[in-house]
Amino acid sequence: MQTDRKAQELWSHRSVFILALMGSSVGLGNIWKFPYLTSEQGGGTFVLLYLACVLLVGVPMMKAEVLLGRHTRSNPVQAMRLLSREAGVSERWRILGWLAVLTGVLIFSFYAVVAAWIFYYVFSLSAGLLADAGWEQSNNFFSRMLADPDTLLTSHTLFMLVVLLILGAGVRRGLDRAIRYLMPLMLLLVLILLVYAYQSGYFWQAYQQLFQFRPERIDGAMVLAALGHAFFTLSLGTGAVMTYGAYLSRKESIGQAVACVGVLDTLLALLIGMVIFPVLLAAQMPSTSGPELLFISLPVAFGQLHAGQVLCVMFFLLVGVAAVTSAISLMEPFTALLEQQWGLRRVVAAVISVATAWCMSLAVLFSFGHLAGVTWYGMNLFELLNFVTTYFLLPLVSLAIMVFTGWILSRRITQSELTLSVPGYYLWRLCLRYLVPLAIGLIFLTNLYNVSF
Ligand code: PHE
Ligand code: NA
Repeated sequence: MQTDRKAQELWSHRSVFILALMGSSVGLGNIWKFPYLTSEQGGGTFVLLYLACVLLVGVPMMKAEVLLGRHTRSNPVQAMRLLSREAGVSERWRILGWLAVLTGVLIFSFYAVVAAWIFYYVFSLSAGLLADAGWEQSNNFFSRMLADPDTLLTSHTLFMLVVLLILGAGVRRGLDRAIRYLMPLMLLLVLILLVYAYQSGYFWQAYQQLFQFRPERIDGAMVLAALGHAFFTLSLGTGAVMTYGAYLSRKESIGQAVACVGVLDTLLALLIGMVIFPVLLAAQMPSTSGPELLFISLPVAFGQLHAGQVLCVMFFLLVGVAAVTSAISLMEPFTALLEQQWGLRRVVAAVISVATAWCMSLAVLFSFGHLAGVTWYGMNLFELLNFVTTYFLLPLVSLAIMVFTGWILSRRITQSELTLSVPGYYLWRLCLRYLVPLAIGLIFLTNLYNVSF
């Protein structure tokens, strides 16, 4: 243990911590997954279930992750080692820290590929490549891009360099500063797009589609989809939140900050839905799911509207910024681990962590082109990583973290870190010890069941 290492850098202000967590949580999950899940799963019914999951599962869990990080001021691996020592249990719990870091790197390796598509779209759309394209043309454009990863190498490399630049500069000069510029930019873009969508004339129709509540449509699959999405969208289970928590001053209230982030992440998902659906409706495009929605339908829809081309570039810029702020949080745990565990300089640690992820990500990039023939159970590397992380690693790591915090860590520690009111604290503990493990266990078993049949 390096107790005598130089004092850990902290966020410059509480609001930066909130923005940083928000930057981590608002990403492709909000902009790409949430809108299509919502339209696929029955609008308002799904939205309501998802809200319940965020409130009852996501927020308590996020508090736990922040508290573990802040209490130890360490990356997930060292945090688990210090905490298990404090709790008097086996230090093997550090394996959980490793698993969290690994999950982050795995998610990053396919996240970066989608980010490369987005960067590529920003350039292509600015150059007017898809101007006045029909659905057919747009579809061809997307397939051609996928089949030819060599053309994507530039945007992929650019994305990696941006992440490296931010991580390499450290917590204060890198993450903190980047977040202070990128988050306002992101919010500004959302605002402009919203005003534009409002003027399209289809705002209220989209609103109804998004918020119409039909309780009779609730079923197990929908609950599980909502729960699974709550984890992914709040960045839980990768140590990202834990590591960001390590940089939070002891004076600040964890409860308030986390509640803020939970609300803002959800609000942004809904607002972005209120940009996408009016645009699709106005252009009479079907709201298909998956990659088509963002990469094929949306450019066509924007292209048919007044000033749509410019706004479409803005939209993809927004997705790009959101992807960058999430990606740095995915790689921060590994970078901090290298820095703290082996006493490496920040820049060196960042280069090693990003280079490692870069190599893995290149394999994912080529899984659409040269390596398209390599599949497992019919999934290429991209699909496999997406599947394994979302359905196995995230719930597994989250479950273990919750069990550790709720059942093994002493109440003295959790109570003193959280400083909640007495009923608030007991409610949190109830969620953590019973509700959350039960919920995660349920997702996990159902997925196992679905895979084996
Ligand atoms: N929350 C991010 C999103 O919604 C994804 C993410 C997951 C980021 C895990 C960090 C850690 O896109
Ligand atoms: Na999110």
